[in-house]
Amino acid sequence: MVDIHSHILPEVDDGPKSWDVAVAMCRMAAADGITHQVATPHANDRYHYDRPYLLGLLDHLQKLVGDSPKLGLGCDFHLSYDNLQDALANPSRYAIEGTHYMLVELSNYSVPLQTTDSFLKLGDSGMTCVITHPERNPILRESPQRVVEWAEQGCVIQMTGSALTGFWGERVRHVAQWLLEHDAVHVLSTDAHDTEKRIPVLSTARDAAAGMVGHEVAQALVEGNPRAIINSQPLPYFPRPLTGSYRKGSN
Ligand SMILES: [Fe+2]
Repeated sequence: MVDIHSHILPEVDDGPKSWDVAVAMCRMAAADGITHQVATPHANDRYHYDRPYLLGLLDHLQKLVGDSPKLGLGCDFHLSYDNLQDALANPSRYAIEGTHYMLVELSNYSVPLQTTDSFLKLGDSGMTCVITHPERNPILRESPQRVVEWAEQGCVIQMTGSALTGFWGERVRHVAQWLLEHDAVHVLSTDAHDTEKRIPVLSTARDAAAGMVGHEVAQALVEGNPRAIINSQPLPYFPRPLTGSYRKGSN
């Protein structure tokens, strides 16, 4: 399996606080069958993103863990005005290493109509946006049809695996399942931060997805699609999403 969203570099954001924990996270990922892991430190108001410095840390971590998993660098890119201007001026700075894919996280407090325009602008600069965990966004959770529209426009939708297993509560699980059943999810990732709660494990999410949409699709979400992303290829599983109104779940 390939994990394109994780916080495994020590002391650069709210991920691991030490090299020991960073190494333990990599070992946990490898034991779960994750062969490639993309480290995606935050770039937001709280955490500065210094790519050359982060590449140095990644290199050191790879030496500590050995061959597996293979590590790459990306960014948990927060879509703020300043970040957007910088990404448009330097499209590859925030990309998953060597590819035209970049993670894009939306604000929990406001998802303005211009958001669609921002995705189009990034697309014009050569990047394909991978929208991260819309199921956990309190605004999009109420209007997941917007996520379906972005998928129709060619954005890649990345869901947190643990949303499907109930870690984030029933409401998040419900909308996650709705998006999955509407063919509007392309990748499952761990968004791991530690070895205790937000852990680098994908197999349980893959199995949960298989129970909802079948083994073949589940496998595409953790293997075929994320592997295509790290190789800068088009996604092998990219169905036309189903439209339909969303009815809220309980809680
Ligand atoms: Fe993240």
